[in-house]
Amino acid sequence: MKTPLKVAIAGLGTVGAGVVALLKRNATLLERHAGRKIELVAVSARDRNRARPIEIGSVPWHSDPVAMAALPEVDVVIELIGGSEGTARQVVARALEHGKHVVTANKALLAHHGTELARLAEAKGVALGFEAAVAGGIPILKALREGLAANRILRVCGILNGTCNYILSQMRETGRDFAAVLAEAQSLGYAEADPSFDIDGIDAAHKLALLAAVAFGNVVDFAGVHVEGIRHVSALDIAFAQDLGYRIKLLGLARLTEHGIEQRVHPCMVPLSAPLAHVEGVFNAIMVEGDFVGRVTLEGRGAGAEPTASAVIADLLDIATGRGAPGFALPASALERRPSAPMARHRGAYYVRLMVVDRPGVIADIAAALRDEAVSMEQMLQRGRAPGEAVPVVLTTHEGEEAGMRRALDRIAALDTVLEPPRMIRVENL
Ligand SMILES: NC(=O)c1ccc[n+]([C@@H]2O[C@H](COP(=O)([O-])OP(=O)(O)OC[C@H]3O[C@@H](n4cnc5c(N)ncnc54)[C@H](OP(=O)(O)O)[C@@H]3O)[C@@H](O)[C@H]2O)c1
Repeated sequence: MKTPLKVAIAGLGTVGAGVVALLKRNATLLERHAGRKIELVAVSARDRNRARPIEIGSVPWHSDPVAMAALPEVDVVIELIGGSEGTARQVVARALEHGKHVVTANKALLAHHGTELARLAEAKGVALGFEAAVAGGIPILKALREGLAANRILRVCGILNGTCNYILSQMRETGRDFAAVLAEAQSLGYAEADPSFDIDGIDAAHKLALLAAVAFGNVVDFAGVHVEGIRHVSALDIAFAQDLGYRIKLLGLARLTEHGIEQRVHPCMVPLSAPLAHVEGVFNAIMVEGDFVGRVTLEGRGAGAEPTASAVIADLLDIATGRGAPGFALPASALERRPSAPMARHRGAYYVRLMVVDRPGVIADIAAALRDEAVSMEQMLQRGRAPGEAVPVVLTTHEGEEAGMRRALDRIAALDTVLEPPRMIRVENL
């Protein structure tokens, strides 16, 4: 039997408590899979007196997690504090500098500093595992690095934020508007008091930047992600989507184009025929398309103590057995630095909703603006009639370049019969 693997945990909140619980409850199974014992030898959090749902018993408590990361008796540091800077970053850097393996669930840290930390880990000959940072319990990074390693990845797209997916699902099921559903999600604990990281798409963008780096062998390029959140999705758009055979989902999408790497997070019209359209509530799902395998979709819990702990411990088992590829699939020095493809060059189909005055000639003016910018309309529908008053008009387009669509929308917005800024949602034919 090999020597035990000695583990320190920095952060004992939702995920930290889940990891401690898993280490205890599945200790025998983990020992069999690891071929050695896994021993918790040090823990740290902010407030020693805080009530926690776990027993840490006689495990030594350290008030300074950064100092704990350098302890000679520690083999692996699990960072579960969170945040792209400050203590979490110092803990990870200190651990790597001292030749400790690191496992983290911290997508913000990796999205901002992932390439540099991977380089440091390699220089020190240790692992940097971050499966839990992307879609919680779904083992998507391992699937990309190992199971799908023989494929050229054509694209990845996924529902990467459970809070947004819950809000959009509730809006569809109840017909209520965004603000009411967000307030309820906050009262139920599904959304943070400050929900902007989730609903403005930033959390999904962190995860997409990591997914794209692993899928395409690129350096992590968070700054290159085009991000739009779900604040502007209205109950009206959700109802129209239903009529047109779509569901609105906040997706993260990445692919290589002739203009560079395209990474985008925004609400999408997803056809009902696509598996992602049926992923509801707090669930996450990711579809990967490889050149030999075709499409593979993984669905599961993208957050929560137990699913996230499952992913953290999977990385720990790889370290315990000495298996596993580098975190980003390739050595950091082999990652490419491609330009980010500008959204103006994006090609896609579009849904547009307008509020217009119901009077003769309005539709002709809208059609003329589209024609002048070479946008090819697929269909247009007007709901109800109210001569002289505001009515919604919805149109969808064939595939075209985004720059032309934007110019057409500017012209349409300037028409005096168009009463509100046009709402545009990209259609993804998945
Ligand atoms: N929650 C999820 O479902 C989930 C899913 C995937 C990934 N993640 C990621 O996992 C990480 C942890 O998330 P979480 O939800 O578990 O967070 P959390 O519940 O807020 O827990 C954070 C923990 O870090 C400790 N901490 C904060 N600042 C500290 C400091 N300066 N020094 C020492 N300890 C400090 C806190 O101590 P106290 O307990 O004493 O306050 C707490 O134990 C984040 O990077 C998050 O993005 C979370």
